[in-house]
Amino acid sequence: MYLTPDEEKLMNGERGPTYQKAIEILAALGDIYGADRLIPIKSTQIAGVSYKTIGDAGLEWISDLKGKVVVPSILNPAGMDMECWREMGISEGFAHKQQEIIRAYEALGVRTECSCTPYNIFDDLAGFGDHVAWSESSAISYANSVIGARTNREGGPSALSAALVGKTPNFGFHLDENRVPVISIYVEPELHDSDYGALGYIVGAMIGDKVPIFELISRPTKDELKSLGAAMAASGAVALYHVKDITPEAEKYELPPEKITIEEKQIQEIYKSPYLNKGSDEPDLIAFGCPHSSVPELENLARLLDGKKVKKETWICTSRIIKDGNSALIKHIQRSGAKVFCDTCMVVSPASEKFKCMMVNSGKAHKYAPNLCGVKSILATTEKCVEMAVSG
Ligand code: F3S
Repeated sequence: MYLTPDEEKLMNGERGPTYQKAIEILAALGDIYGADRLIPIKSTQIAGVSYKTIGDAGLEWISDLKGKVVVPSILNPAGMDMECWREMGISEGFAHKQQEIIRAYEALGVRTECSCTPYNIFDDLAGFGDHVAWSESSAISYANSVIGARTNREGGPSALSAALVGKTPNFGFHLDENRVPVISIYVEPELHDSDYGALGYIVGAMIGDKVPIFELISRPTKDELKSLGAAMAASGAVALYHVKDITPEAEKYELPPEKITIEEKQIQEIYKSPYLNKGSDEPDLIAFGCPHSSVPELENLARLLDGKKVKKETWICTSRIIKDGNSALIKHIQRSGAKVFCDTCMVVSPASEKFKCMMVNSGKAHKYAPNLCGVKSILATTEKCVEMAVSG
């Protein structure tokens, strides 16, 4: 891969070992994937934040870096609510390590908001056609598909390297030819709410990392698209999808001849669960906000919980900026006894591991809860989740 004279200087260590390591990582990726050069990026979103996932080795790696990011950069969710971690049942030891991780990123100039929906809290991160380097799979999917920005599936180290250098190797989804859909997905039933998570759960498992184009008879909201993309990235590795007449690049493409049809009964199958049978463990955690809840999603939950009291542990995960900016709405939700947590989620926090069975309205959380938290999972609509939360 071609490096400019300034990039060569970084490679030769003229600005110190951190920048040298960063450009080595980018150049190695570029060489592996056949990039011609590095291209400037508008922002990064950096995964590898929860102490649960990166442990002491990750903390040490980040703490040893000395430099400053040169583009707006934001963190993925951490392993706990940075303020209400005691309420989550997080230990002092874990909290201390998590705080160290956040401080290490802060020292590098990274914004310490921990969110998988950065597009809902900052306007300066990604617009149509912008090149970015994001690393949380649902955020990647949203950036590529709903915003029309361009990002590869970055790992934490490659996103942080891109943040330090302000560039990323030019390959994969940065190039027009790799954004073309190769499979059509025709969806027969009308969908709403968590049906989109169920659809993503099914389609991701079927198509792996292919780029699909959907033909839908219903018109999804942005939150429903968020849910669809998150689930497809979890059950498969879909980083970009199009929806005919809806997503920004879809009109450029013909429908590819390879076609899958999704029927109503396939969607309903995902909602069926052996854990709802009598004698089985009942859900003991009801969790919303995967990906992090938007304001309209919080408003919907406030409406559904209005005048009710939850009788089961109920979590709603969102971004701190959204919580702080909507205090009346948050108080309305909290009156029901539901807990609103920020900076973290039911998957990346160890706090969910003490539960036996989680009920979620997210296809992504439904996929990950058993594998990453060791907790059984039931997928249900938002309304059914609220019904379960308030039932005795
Ligand atoms: Fe976000 Fe956690 Fe889900 S990081 S996408 S809420 S698994």
